[in-house]
Amino acid sequence: MTVYPFQVIDRMAAAQASANKPLLQAEGVTLEYRTTERTVRATHRVSFNVYGGDRFVLLGPSGCGKSTLLKAVAGFIAPREGSIHLHGRPVLQPGPDRIVVFQEFDQLPPWKTVKQNVMFPLLASKRVGRREAEEHALHWLHKVGLDGFADAHPHTLSGGMKQRVAIARALAMQPDILLMDEPFAALDALTRRKMQEELQGLWEEVRFTLLFVTHSIEEALLVGNRILLLSRHPGQVRAELNSHQFGLNSAGSAEFQAATRRIHGMLFDDEDHEKQASPTTTALISQRQGK
Ligand SMILES: Nc1ncnc2c1ncn2[C@@H]1O[C@H](COP(=O)(O)OP(=O)(O)OP(=O)(O)O)[C@@H](O)[C@H]1O
Ligand SMILES: [Mg+2]
Repeated sequence: MTVYPFQVIDRMAAAQASANKPLLQAEGVTLEYRTTERTVRATHRVSFNVYGGDRFVLLGPSGCGKSTLLKAVAGFIAPREGSIHLHGRPVLQPGPDRIVVFQEFDQLPPWKTVKQNVMFPLLASKRVGRREAEEHALHWLHKVGLDGFADAHPHTLSGGMKQRVAIARALAMQPDILLMDEPFAALDALTRRKMQEELQGLWEEVRFTLLFVTHSIEEALLVGNRILLLSRHPGQVRAELNSHQFGLNSAGSAEFQAATRRIHGMLFDDEDHEKQASPTTTALISQRQGK
């Protein structure tokens, strides 16, 4: 089996070397869907920076454009206004440097075994030969706790196990940034918590860079070290928060509950105010600066 520590060390060194430079920069990103009848604005001038090793969370109410933002970072949708850069280069199309894990359990081709699913993008991108792809696949399946399931087909797995395969498949590609769109939202509460823990464990080990979408405040605090709060549709930045102080054991703490209430207030109470009077840009900026 291939030994991986060098890759991990390289990635950490690279992350440290570029610590001051954002890995991903979104600047004034407006995203729209256009049909013949109408144009739907999904996000309005959203800006944020993601640094190497960040667990950066996009948090906001349903319909605020989180998935659309993720699709734009993945290169599936071009911004109507603004720009997205990865390593200083504009994102113009999808690429193996950005891999997405979706919410849906059907993201794995059902005719391929678990191992073949993980090997597929490695082979398709011609990164490695078949033997090495198999070694990578088995390595990452081990990391996500699916040692005994390499030859199983997806329909024989639980939802949580399918998501583990999708995570193994994504990490096997060693993307510069892992994009996750509510990957645990369709799981029961216990499995969801377990998956959050496992993701945290993988991050501790591999230190990948993560852009994670959720509409759960608790999940954002548990998974993320930085959180971007987006307003209701069309999504605008309301605030950016640090959440590195919260780990998986802090869920019940008074500090955690206070943070949850504060975020809830920012997401929803302000919207009640908005119904009476629109917030000014100044208000949004000062909130973002934590004033
Ligand atoms: N293919 C599409 N065509 C037209 N409008 C779309 C399309 N996909 C999304 N939208 C609209 O864009 C807006 C943002 O949608 P998006 O799916 O990004 O929201 P979201 O924040 O991910 O919501 P949720 O939390 O429910 O997943 C919504 O108003 C939605 O109706
Ligand atoms: Mg979504």
